[in-house]
Amino acid sequence: SDAPLALTPPMGWNNWAHYMCDIDEAKVVANADALVARGLAAKGYDTVTVDDCWMTKSRDADGNLVVDTQKFPRGMAWLGEYLHAKGLKFGIYEDAGSLTCERYPGSGSPDGGGPDHYAQDARLFASWKVDYVKMDGCNLWVPPGRTKEQAYRDAYNAVSAGLRASGRDMVLSASAPAYFQQGEWGGSDWHKVLGWVGETGQLWREGKDIKVYNPAAPATSRWSSVLGNYGYNRWLGRYAGPGNWNDPDFLIAGSPGLTEAESRSQVGLWAMMAAPFILSSDVSRLTPAGLAALGNTDLIALDQDPMGRQGAVLSANATFEVLARPLANGDRAVAVLNRSGSARDISVPLTDIGLYSCTVDAKDLWTGGSTEVSTSLTGKVAAHDTAVFRLTPHEGCGAAVPTGQITGNG
Ligand code: GLA
Repeated sequence: SDAPLALTPPMGWNNWAHYMCDIDEAKVVANADALVARGLAAKGYDTVTVDDCWMTKSRDADGNLVVDTQKFPRGMAWLGEYLHAKGLKFGIYEDAGSLTCERYPGSGSPDGGGPDHYAQDARLFASWKVDYVKMDGCNLWVPPGRTKEQAYRDAYNAVSAGLRASGRDMVLSASAPAYFQQGEWGGSDWHKVLGWVGETGQLWREGKDIKVYNPAAPATSRWSSVLGNYGYNRWLGRYAGPGNWNDPDFLIAGSPGLTEAESRSQVGLWAMMAAPFILSSDVSRLTPAGLAALGNTDLIALDQDPMGRQGAVLSANATFEVLARPLANGDRAVAVLNRSGSARDISVPLTDIGLYSCTVDAKDLWTGGSTEVSTSLTGKVAAHDTAVFRLTPHEGCGAAVPTGQITGNG
């Protein structure tokens, strides 16, 4: 149908950052069950996506992808039914190039040219009642006479056409921009791709993978990878809106390698950026603080705000980062990240967020407490933590600066 998809950022779970290729039916089922049992599914985390390595290394005689029945003994139609019966949605991974990143068969043309499988694979996914397709962009062949950017555009247009032709509504998570991002500022081809990718899909990976779980060294680099992905995603607000979301990759809050404060920060920053809320962890082993942050209904409502405006950076220095975001009901959200290694006092004048001669009710979304504020938001923010407030202006609140001033990034 032509019904709009993903009017708010998709939410759910994906195995990759925790299990990588070590994935099977039992693990997917256990995590789906845990989403329900822990109350996360009821709060919106409903799309369960099987990432790379679910298939065999070759297609069958008809050219169809073949599920690896060692890993998924009851097959993918069964898994879709299982998830749907639990009130969940079914997501699956493929690749727009000739091979997936782990070198399983991709949907794209082989190197040197030849028929692609975009429409055929979309039909197969539709027959399995898939609701969400993550289309990666490894190993994509660039035909002679096309630039890399044009080749990706052709491929993702074909992916999108194939999904539409299947007749089933499937959300498309496109990875094209991730294959163009270079450094903090991305590069000009990156922005070209970000400019068209929303015509093909509803969300897109725009950069690096969040650091995966390594049981041998659980703490290694996971916080710096969260900050790194935040670091470039924060400037991309102009590409986001209902049905189009920047995806700075998975939520690893509550899983090994992040402190309680760091877990809260990831949830807070991702919510400010209207990022997809896709967990990638062992859901039954989330830390209590991580589970509380992920299940915080005020943070979820912030992420899922129907206006769909990604928050923008108001100020940044070596210690603090202040973001603001307008919300559908006239409220504003404000977040303050403390990058430093010690607790800091914060003070954000309301005028800095465009509120002049104004009194607001400021709700601290982590504690749930509200205070009346007419000068500055204040508080203490722990090392690596992010304070998040929801401001409700009082009646007669003074003139606000045009919202463009606080949302027009880049
Ligand atoms: C890429 C993606 C990851 C994951 C792997 C699978 O690295 O960015 O999210 O899908 O491929 O191979």
